[in-house]
Amino acid sequence: MKRREFLKVMGGAGVALPGLWSASSCAQAIIKADPGTGLSLGYVSGDVGSDSALVWLRAEADSRVTLRYGNEPGLAQFQTSVRTVDAGADHSAIFSLEGLAPSTRYYYRALVEGRTPGPIASFVTAPRADDNHKVSFCFSGDTRQGYKPFTVMHAVRAQRPDFFLHLGDTIYADRNGAARSLEEFWNKYRINRDDAAAQSCFRETSVYVMWDDHEVEDDYMPGHPLASIGRKAFLDYWPVRRPATEPEQIYRAARWGRAVELIILDPRQYRAPDRSSMLGRTQKEWLFDRLVNSSATFKFVATTVPMAGGGKDRWDGYPKERAEILRYIRERKIPGVVFLSADLHYAAVTRIPKSNGLLDITAGPLAAPLNRVTNSANRRYQFFLAENFNFAKITVDPKVNGNEALLEFIDQDNRVFHTRTLRA
Ligand SMILES: [Fe+2]
Repeated sequence: MKRREFLKVMGGAGVALPGLWSASSCAQAIIKADPGTGLSLGYVSGDVGSDSALVWLRAEADSRVTLRYGNEPGLAQFQTSVRTVDAGADHSAIFSLEGLAPSTRYYYRALVEGRTPGPIASFVTAPRADDNHKVSFCFSGDTRQGYKPFTVMHAVRAQRPDFFLHLGDTIYADRNGAARSLEEFWNKYRINRDDAAAQSCFRETSVYVMWDDHEVEDDYMPGHPLASIGRKAFLDYWPVRRPATEPEQIYRAARWGRAVELIILDPRQYRAPDRSSMLGRTQKEWLFDRLVNSSATFKFVATTVPMAGGGKDRWDGYPKERAEILRYIRERKIPGVVFLSADLHYAAVTRIPKSNGLLDITAGPLAAPLNRVTNSANRRYQFFLAENFNFAKITVDPKVNGNEALLEFIDQDNRVFHTRTLRA
């Protein structure tokens, strides 16, 4: 497809829904804390492991917040963690909960000093690597403020997945008034987080989140003057566990029982097109290491941009490195590798060319213009639909058949519109 046509569809103002946000909506979203609880914008739990989790929240300036957490729904017994919200992170705080039990639903609530307690929320911890627990998760991408309310998040919540994976374009910093300052980037996150459906989903479902280009600017490249501001705002608003020695590293992996290794790539901040590298050498070697050493039946590789299609900004622009990754998997006969992507604003199952039949599952958009450029004509698509806001759900139950995963595509009315079985 021609790049110019594609951008017109993906980014043009002509497809915005009427009566919601317009170009003039770059004005400040003044989000006042609830006068009762002192909290604002709900909670987000994320990067949950078998013994740890992060919880993000935002509260009144300078407030000291106690987080109570435990495995009883009423929190009759609890542990606590205390933080003061950080004005340098737009009055947010991220709590790190450690020493948790695996495969357990945890409940938590925040108490701002001197206020009434906040609502009780929950998340479920991952099974241990040798545990054959059933695992299910949903994933998608692309939440654009002009398409609020994010009704599709009600459907995600209703599926009761173990976690939700947001594969980028969590904001559109360059649409509806382009963000230029840190304050303006924060404002984009406030607007999107100020959404009842998203908040109610996050109250019961933990997340893993990766950024894509629109957290900075359409198709941005490393060295972009807004890249570091965009990254800071992203990390201020999403719970992302990072190595203490590498605070800017967003790529990471998570293990969910015997069934699932989730490898979340950062295909943005290490790009070097002159060397045909999207991942950069360190991340690529990390990916190879995770792939070859994981004992999980399925290795789901989340790459926000699809492995085939969409032009030079996606893997099509980095054919050498893509071929190297596919060759690595083939030569070492690594079983159960499935790629997950979003970004192109359609739902598809794509047979990746020259990959020995590996699949890329593309979901989305959650809430953004539908792709009117691509169609199902290309033979690489085993399934293609660009007609709805959607997400994909993947379920692996080792107790029934550990070598199979159920893939379902689900729309904003919670209707399953495509199903197939993936085999490891
Ligand atoms: Fe997008």
